[in-house]
Amino acid sequence: MVLRCPRNRSLVWGALCVVVVYWVYNYPVYRLPSDSEVVREVLRQGRTWQRNRTGIHLLRKLLEECCQPKEMFAITKENSPMGKVLWYDGELYHSHTVNNVTYPLFVQKPPLSSLLKKCAVVGNGGVLKSSGCGGEIDQSDFIMRCNLPPLSKEYTDDVGTKTHLVSANPSIIEKRFQNLLWSRRSFVESMKAYGSSYIYMPAFSMKPGTDPSLRVSYALSDSGSNQTLLFANPDFLRSVDRFWKARGIHAKRLSTGLFLVSLALGLCEEVTAYGFWPFSVGLDEGFISHHYYDNVLPFSGFHAMPEEFLRLWQLHKGGVLRMRVSRCPSEAG
Ligand SMILES: *[C@@H]1O[C@H](CO)[C@@H](O)[C@H](O)[C@H]1NC(C)=O
Ligand SMILES: *[C@@H]1O[C@H](CO)[C@@H](O)[C@H](O)[C@H]1NC(C)=O
Ligand SMILES: *[C@@H]1O[C@H](CO)[C@@H](O)[C@H](O)[C@H]1NC(C)=O
Repeated sequence: MVLRCPRNRSLVWGALCVVVVYWVYNYPVYRLPSDSEVVREVLRQGRTWQRNRTGIHLLRKLLEECCQPKEMFAITKENSPMGKVLWYDGELYHSHTVNNVTYPLFVQKPPLSSLLKKCAVVGNGGVLKSSGCGGEIDQSDFIMRCNLPPLSKEYTDDVGTKTHLVSANPSIIEKRFQNLLWSRRSFVESMKAYGSSYIYMPAFSMKPGTDPSLRVSYALSDSGSNQTLLFANPDFLRSVDRFWKARGIHAKRLSTGLFLVSLALGLCEEVTAYGFWPFSVGLDEGFISHHYYDNVLPFSGFHAMPEEFLRLWQLHKGGVLRMRVSRCPSEAG
């Protein structure tokens, strides 16, 4: 009936067009599996896992080609001399030119130059709670943690005690330590949990993050800390971001965890990831909190955790890295 009149017909076509355009923009190109589908898939895989040396070497080679993790993951005096323009990777059109304020804060050369053996990347997922993974984590040769996580006594059994590199987002310096504008004491005190590790800060990712990062540097050196602050190199972050986007991750920004896993895959012979489980049910169908220390949910839409998880799970299935997504085997058994 409607289609009989030409004017109405164009109206209908117009409406149809709008619907199609809307659909193309909003309908996901692919569908992420539901939490319970992921649980089933992971259970199907079971505990069997075998390291794949060929796969490990291949991925390390790909990462070396795209991103040069060893040379580029941190800003050094060698890769970022005076006058070098650093483009913020989290912003458009913002840059910092290395000057006589920032240059002295950079380490001389890449700090991790030889291949590391057994590396652990510890995410902060609630799946670590009651995991008993602390002992296994502490036996690794190099342990990376995300975003200054708590390591107090009550968590030791599950997350271990040692740290060799810990990332610190400037936003946490703002939230937890008021940007170090007033007191540095609680900051200096809480940093003791990380021993003499590297502190890895994306100081040149977002413009507002630079000043707090510089203040972290001053606070650490003034307190006589033997921790080494490493500024994440925005060129490295950008190339890793591209690497994963070309492999099907659609997030605005990768999570710190995936950056660290990528770094580990580039630097280590063997990588095990702990605490990467972005779902609210565990393999035993029990509730899993967001972090092992709280259940504060992040902004949605910024990261794509389930998608990242599925990529990592593919690597697990291919034997390239090992994911611990439930209790660790007890050392006796
Ligand atoms: C090991 O990795 C290589 C390269 O990615 C792949 O072709 C091969 O199928 C993998 N082998 C196993 C047993 O997963
Ligand atoms: C830093 O650079 C500025 C101008 O580029 C110069 O005026 C100043 O003397 C320099 N400071 C030091 C400590 O070299
Ligand atoms: C440096 O760190 C190590 C490991 O935590 C610690 O035992 C040592 O006392 C520290 N040294 C100084 C000078 O702070």
